[in-house]
Formats: sequence, structure tokens, C-alpha cells
Amino acid sequence: MNQSVVRNVEVAVVDEELEATVFGCLCAYDVGSWKEEQAVCARPHDAATVYDEVYRAWPSDLGKQLSKSARATFKTPLLPLVYGEIDFSSFSATLSKVRTFGGLPVGGSFYDLGSGVGRPCVAAAVGFPLSKAVGIEYLVELHRVSKEAQRRYEEFNASVDDATSIDFVRGDFTNLADCDWTDGDVVFANSTCFDTAMRVAVSACALRLRKGAFFVSSTRLFLPEHDFQTLSADLVSMSWGQATVFIQKKITPPRQIPVTPVSPTWRPA
Ligand SMILES: C[S@@+](CC[C@H](N)C(=O)[O-])C[C@H]1O[C@@H](n2cnc3c(N)ncnc32)[C@H](O)[C@@H]1O
Repeated sequence: MNQSVVRNVEVAVVDEELEATVFGCLCAYDVGSWKEEQAVCARPHDAATVYDEVYRAWPSDLGKQLSKSARATFKTPLLPLVYGEIDFSSFSATLSKVRTFGGLPVGGSFYDLGSGVGRPCVAAAVGFPLSKAVGIEYLVELHRVSKEAQRRYEEFNASVDDATSIDFVRGDFTNLADCDWTDGDVVFANSTCFDTAMRVAVSACALRLRKGAFFVSSTRLFLPEHDFQTLSADLVSMSWGQATVFIQKKITPPRQIPVTPVSPTWRPA
């Protein structure tokens, strides 16, 4: 069993690009169960090898650079669009932990809210026996790279019958008409830079998730406590440093309240 020990030490990580101070609890992190998980989800290629192959040709800071220039075309600085990425091993360990809590069922679905160049979806697809992994990204330039990552992933898995399907959608994840992610078994949001409007809109959408679905987020808990039980809080590696990652489980049946999408307020310069 993957045990995390919270030592109640506050840490602050400041990143020039993230423009945010990230607070978290220091946790002992055990990635051992990820290795066991790989044995369970045997694939012809090692998960890390496929992941590395998909992203090998690009500079590691490609997403950050593309995001920076895309955001410069908006009227006001858009904090919720600030870029940062998962680290493959840490994220795989987090998903592994979701499985120990009973999430990520075989044939299940995974969504990434704000998918950037697509790393969380590729990591989920190469490591776990899901039916689909879908990422939603607002910035066209990042979406375009993720579609190329999808193409490379599909090329690598051409001969694998039960490979997880990947798709990337260009749109606003707070607008369910762009992509309805509320049928997700596991939903991930690298939410460190989400502002209040975004947290409110995502919370309203998340109420539509089924009872028993999982939501994984970073830095701040924001989903309604009445509907989501927090199962763990671990300090994990991200591209900008360390962030606290929360695993939460929906404990109430789905319900619908109105959602106000955030992107109509984002004005081009
Ligand atoms: C911190 S990055 C995370 C990238 C990726 N999920 C990862 O963890 O590697 C957040 C991403 O969310 C995107 N984003 C923010 N708000 C969005 C929205 N409402 N709809 C779609 N994408 C959004 C940003 O453009 C950015 O690429």
C-alpha cells in the first residue's frame, strides 16, 4: 500500500513563469506502487519508453514558450492560462494511487482539463488500461502540438489492439458544449493557477460527475466539500517545482446547476 506521511511543513515555491506562490505540505512520496502497477497493466512497450518517444523531438520547455507567446496576444495577463507541466513519474505514481483508492477502472475514461501539449493524457494512456484519455486545451498553439503527440502515440500503438484511445479537443473546459467531460471516471486539473471564476465554473461542472468518480487537482482544494471527499494530499514534482496534489472522490449523485463559461471574458489585444 502506498502510504504518504504528511509532516505538516509549509513550503513555498516561487516560479518566474508560474507567477504564483505555491504552498503545500511536505509529504513522503512512495513511487513503489507505480512499478507494481506496470506489471499489472502489461503492454508490449514499457510505458516510459512510449512516453519519451512521443515527446523526444521537442524541447522540454516548448509548452511554456508557446503559451507565453499565445498569452501575449490577449488584452490582460491571463493567470489561469499560465503554463506548467506534470512530471511523468510523479504523475504516474499519482494515478497509481488513484487505482489503490478504487479509481481508474479497466476500460474507464480520463480527462485532462487544460491539456497543454498533452502529457497527462499520454502518461495515463501508456500506463493504464483505460478506454480513452481526452484533453481539452484553449490555446490553439498548444492544442496543435498535442494533436501531433496524439499522432505519434497512435503510430507507436498501431499494432496494439487494446491501446487506450487519445483525443485532444480545442476549447474551454468550462463550456461543456466544447467538450463534456462529466462522464469521466478520473478527471485531472493542473489547477495551481486557476482564479476564482475558473474554480467556481469547474466546481459547477464537477457536480455532474457520477458518484464514485475521482478528481485530481493541484495546490488548492476548491471542489464543494459536501460532494467531494479528500483522500490524499501529496507533494509531487511538476515542471516548475513541487506542488501539492489532491485526490478527491465524488460522494454524491450527479446534479446539475448552471455553469458560466470563463473564456468569453478573455479578450484578444
Ligand atoms: C498548468 S497547464 C497544465 C498542462 C497539462 N495539463 C499538464 O499538467 O502537463 C494549464 C493549461 O490549462 C489551459 N487552460 C486554462 N484554462 C483553460 C480553459 N478554461 N479551457 C481550456 N484550457 C485551459 C492553459 O492554456 C494551460 O495550457
